[in-house]
Amino acid sequence: MLENPKRYTITAALPYTNGPIHIGHLAGVYVPSDIYARYLRLQGKDVVFVCGSDEHGVAISMKAKKEGITPQEVIDKYDGIIRQSFIDFGITFDNYSRTSAPIHHHTAQDFFKKLYQEGKFIEQTTEQLYDAKADQFLADRFVTGTCPKCENPEAYGDQCERCGSSLNATDLINPKSTITGETPVLKSTKHWFLPLNEYDAFLREWVLEGHKNDWKPNVYGQVKSWVDGGLEPRAVTRDLDWGIDVPVEGAEGKKLYVWFDAPIGYISATKEWAAREGKDWEPYWKNEETKLVHFIGKDNIVFHCIIFPVMLKAEGSYILPDNVPANEFLNLEGNKLSTSKNWAVWLHEYLQDFPDKQDVLRYALTANAPETKDNDFTWKDFQARNNNELAAIFGNFINRVVVLTNKYYDGIIPTPNEFTEVDEQTLTELKAYPSVISSSVERYRFREALSEVMNVARLGNKYLADEEPWKMVKENPERVKTQMYVALQIAAALQTLCEPFLPFTSEKLKTILNTSVLDVNWNSISKKTDLLPAGHKIGEAQILFAQIEDAEIQKQLDKLEASKKANQIANAKAEPQKEVATFDDFTKLDLRVGTILEAEKMPKANKLLVLKVDTGIDVRTIVSGIAEHFSPEEVVGKRVTVLANLAPRALRGVESAGMILMTNTAEGKLVFVNPDTEGVLNGALIS
Ligand code: 2FM
Ligand code: ZN
Repeated sequence: MLENPKRYTITAALPYTNGPIHIGHLAGVYVPSDIYARYLRLQGKDVVFVCGSDEHGVAISMKAKKEGITPQEVIDKYDGIIRQSFIDFGITFDNYSRTSAPIHHHTAQDFFKKLYQEGKFIEQTTEQLYDAKADQFLADRFVTGTCPKCENPEAYGDQCERCGSSLNATDLINPKSTITGETPVLKSTKHWFLPLNEYDAFLREWVLEGHKNDWKPNVYGQVKSWVDGGLEPRAVTRDLDWGIDVPVEGAEGKKLYVWFDAPIGYISATKEWAAREGKDWEPYWKNEETKLVHFIGKDNIVFHCIIFPVMLKAEGSYILPDNVPANEFLNLEGNKLSTSKNWAVWLHEYLQDFPDKQDVLRYALTANAPETKDNDFTWKDFQARNNNELAAIFGNFINRVVVLTNKYYDGIIPTPNEFTEVDEQTLTELKAYPSVISSSVERYRFREALSEVMNVARLGNKYLADEEPWKMVKENPERVKTQMYVALQIAAALQTLCEPFLPFTSEKLKTILNTSVLDVNWNSISKKTDLLPAGHKIGEAQILFAQIEDAEIQKQLDKLEASKKANQIANAKAEPQKEVATFDDFTKLDLRVGTILEAEKMPKANKLLVLKVDTGIDVRTIVSGIAEHFSPEEVVGKRVTVLANLAPRALRGVESAGMILMTNTAEGKLVFVNPDTEGVLNGALIS
């Protein structure tokens, strides 16, 4: 771990522009990286925080094929939506670039050329999967099949999402083309490979020895199991028609592998930023006193901890990441977030329903961040975090302080009298918070850091509750001046300490406390007792966190329920056809129309209804297993299809003579097979 770095380069995983982004992305990557960048800037550090759209790769081509539009149209659409979401949620990238930008194409090609010229690649003609019908090689996600490691039948050609293994398409068992559904054939093609195996010693020394103690156990563990499992050369070029051209002779029509170009996107984004700001980009990537930190989700660990570092090492002039604090996954209401199943909270949709509640989401996602294990986002938890924590603790404290200061002193900070022991203790405790919070943030423990920020508000609430200035004001107004002065210092500290986590709230507090004219900063909190000096005038109170009502939460739950239903319908598959039945077999069945005349529950049986059915030839008893789906009252009078000649059998001592035909809706609801019975008499045969 680099101590006292001169500057910081912070990267956040480049999102694929094949869809909008959702709360999982925000929780796993963008909120933590933004907290870290904002925190460092508050320390006065030299920081560049970069990201951008990841616009190559098969995900984009597949989306374009599916929607019948060009890849360029796909990336333009989602780049716009994603960019806006980041602005809306206050993610303070110094530059948000795109891998379709010319500067990136050049940077990625130059990088490749250098490795090529220095003989860092292995050139190999290999057999690759080829879809003859589509006349196309099947790289990565254009092929699915069974994972050789965990037998997941839906693994992709580059990765198995169940066990996390990184794969080559030819490793898959029973491969299928996702373009045509055909079984691919092998065809030879030339590619360039990065010999990861030659970097085994480097990776062992750099990560397994060097970062044993400072990398998160989940990250370290994944790298170790990769390296221990034996590394193999990995192709960094592809036969595709969308991507960056491979810039060497003999590679016509081939593109750089998206995982080769995407991380170089961090470098291009930094170059673009430096050019705009009139700075030199190189120290941010090449100076040993720069701390490089990659924020990613756990599915990107191998690329950021093995492949990209090997690329940087092979190139030779770059620094390596100091840390890769990858998060685990966030689930939603107990299920995996999924773009294709629309099981997600999309940021742009969230903002339509909660237009001024960016900080509430940032808070809920940080307080429940998947830092060490997968976690679940629930709307009930979101509501509770807002109502019971942000509003009840933070908002309540600020509101009391601001309202009372305006009421007693027309908003002007009073001159304090002598501090009591409690005042002194409270102020000493307050002064300790910046370093407590810093220590958590610097170890990438953002949940812990946020809970310490809330403890500052709790400190303020406790102070006011114990001191009760509203009671004291009549008998000892001089004492109240000191009490309010102390409480106001806590409010001022809170404004700065919450900024990395709740930037919109911090901004509002700045207006309320009128601190833009003062010197309130992270480091002054532990040094000064007069963050808000006597005589300074604050503004009016505003509601920081309005209550979130049950109806608002129900609306979100209904939306998810609707997605679930739409999915069930989309995924409903008909059962395969049964064995062939002869005409004679069929004519043996006596199917006819009947009417249910009476119905009652079978005593001591949850599932059974005892029905009296008019079959046109008789009125008979049929016992039917539908009691969990229908009440007796509901079924009386129903016209139904009866299998009349089913051999009678006794169910719980009641003889049942026949069967009522039922089926299921796509959503799984049991329904009667109702013949269109108008004008049809009971007993009419179905043939
Ligand atoms: O997994 C993803 O969404 C990738 N687009 C992340 C790329 S990160 C980087 F290397 F650019
Ligand atoms: Zn697997």
